Amino acid sequence: MSGIRPTGFLHLGNYFGALRNFVRMQEEYPCFFMVADLHALTTHPDTKELKTNIHRVLAEHIACGLDPDKAALYCQSHVFETSELYLYLNMLAYKGELEKTTTFKDKARLQPDNINAGLLTYPVLQAADILLHRAALVPVGKDQEQHLEMSRTYVNRFNHRYGEVFPEPFAFNYGEQLVKVPSLDGAGKMSKSENQNATLYLSDTDKLILDKVKKAKTDSGPTVPNSVKPDYIENIFLLMKLVSKEEVIKKFEDDYNNCTIRYGDMKKQLGEDMVNFIAPIREKAEAIRNDEKYLKAVMEKGADKARTSAKATMALVREAMGL
Ligand code: ADP
Ligand code: NA
Repeated sequence: MSGIRPTGFLHLGNYFGALRNFVRMQEEYPCFFMVADLHALTTHPDTKELKTNIHRVLAEHIACGLDPDKAALYCQSHVFETSELYLYLNMLAYKGELEKTTTFKDKARLQPDNINAGLLTYPVLQAADILLHRAALVPVGKDQEQHLEMSRTYVNRFNHRYGEVFPEPFAFNYGEQLVKVPSLDGAGKMSKSENQNATLYLSDTDKLILDKVKKAKTDSGPTVPNSVKPDYIENIFLLMKLVSKEEVIKKFEDDYNNCTIRYGDMKKQLGEDMVNFIAPIREKAEAIRNDEKYLKAVMEKGADKARTSAKATMALVREAMGL
């Protein structure tokens, strides 16, 4: 189980932190992936663009390789049981803990005039999404680790108070560690809303990709052989490891260690490899996005599967709680 909010264009961080794992997991597990429109309301209360955004994000999911016949692809607000479970879990979540959440503090800083209760209880709604399907594996990027820990806390409180209903969910990635895709400016991570010039979106044109990569932060190169890389240089190598061939990466590693590296060449190569990676996804998403009838059918089918799973869980929950 996992979800992504329809709050902007999907980017390389969403792909490598989340979507890439979704695509592999759908072959091995029963999966639920949803477009988190209720979560979007905590930061984007205006719903004028919401439907368009939901369709776009869904199209991008399918363009990345998700198959609606394998995984359930649905829209969060279509499954009302989510809100019911969210309500019960709220009684097991404490204000002090919620206020200490990193994402809450970050978002509250960005929207001081709209520090709503939904923003505070964001991790509770996320726990409801996961527990609604009694899911154990949650494919997400590194930024979500703290939320998963909170989900486990609510599971333990619920099971302790009312009886064993939920398994403990864990953040999941096929690699050894959870992924954090860095931004091109050497500071922070790629993100839907911040530093758009330092984030590569799955919808970026070839030209835009090349321009952004060209402007990535570098310097005049190392002067001492085998020196430690500054963070912003390490990040360029990290990005290269996502999309470039092994021998290409090795060449630039060697050049770095010999102090012969030319960052202009490295960024040219990275730009081309990024274009080769992103262009087919972008083109596929554009084609799907315009087929509203198809996208609606996908969401209806997904919601049906999700409701069946949710109803079974909620029957256990109400029985355990004596409701
Ligand atoms: P939301 O608004 O849904 O939180 P995000 O774009 O922040 O959307 O995250 C959606 C998914 O993409 C989450 O699993 C998150 O961990 C992952 N993700 C977002 N940014 C990155 C990044 N830079 N590196 C790795 N994973 C990321
Ligand atoms: Na996030």
